[in-house]
Amino acid sequence: MIRIAPSILSCDFMSIKEDLAHFAKCENIWFHLDVMDGHFVPNLTFGGPIIRQLATITQIPLDVHLMVANPLFHIEIMKDFGIHHITFHLEAATEEESIKIISLAKKLYPSVGVSIKPKTPLAQLSARIIKMIDLLLVMSVEPGFGGQKFIPETYQRLNEIQQLKVKYNPTMQLQVDGGVSEQNSGELISHGVQNLVAGSYIFKEKACNYIAQVESLRSSQ
Ligand code: DX5
Ligand code: ZN
Repeated sequence: MIRIAPSILSCDFMSIKEDLAHFAKCENIWFHLDVMDGHFVPNLTFGGPIIRQLATITQIPLDVHLMVANPLFHIEIMKDFGIHHITFHLEAATEEESIKIISLAKKLYPSVGVSIKPKTPLAQLSARIIKMIDLLLVMSVEPGFGGQKFIPETYQRLNEIQQLKVKYNPTMQLQVDGGVSEQNSGELISHGVQNLVAGSYIFKEKACNYIAQVESLRSSQ
């Protein structure tokens, strides 16, 4: 079953506890948490203190997407929060640094991934890195803001990534983030994507329709 990761960046922060409770009966979802530091991306969101509290109000696995210049700092401070999966950006580190960060993160979290921005050459994604990770997050918008338009060139990148995955790490999950809706989810799934992040598409609806929005992403194949 395709996993859907509602991105809480688009939820109602004034009533986040009630808002997130509407997903309780949803199967196979993660909550996607976008940590932005105002350096790696221009925008600023939330970090450790908020995520620590969020972890206490839900049983749904947390998927942290670090859009930060110093991933190591955040990986270390969040290690005891009960986070299920953590992703940092390839562009925030050299290859050697990335390998060290992944090795450490694997000791601290059940699942670890790296993310690649739309314009970063795939050559930056080395076989050594692919072999170590549980998940590759392919950005389908420039990171930094919710509600942007999906970049269609993502499909071609996914074809190339699929070949790397088969060669180096067939069990690696592929996740796509940015502008995901029922307009493109079927095509993404047919390109081998197993995990879809969606913010504005899910949260634009009334809370009673969140589950239907999640299911529509899985069923539009
Ligand atoms: C963008 C974030 C996304 C964002 C997705 O930088 O990484 O997770 O919340 O939002 P939508 O689905 O609205 O593009
Ligand atoms: Zn994200």
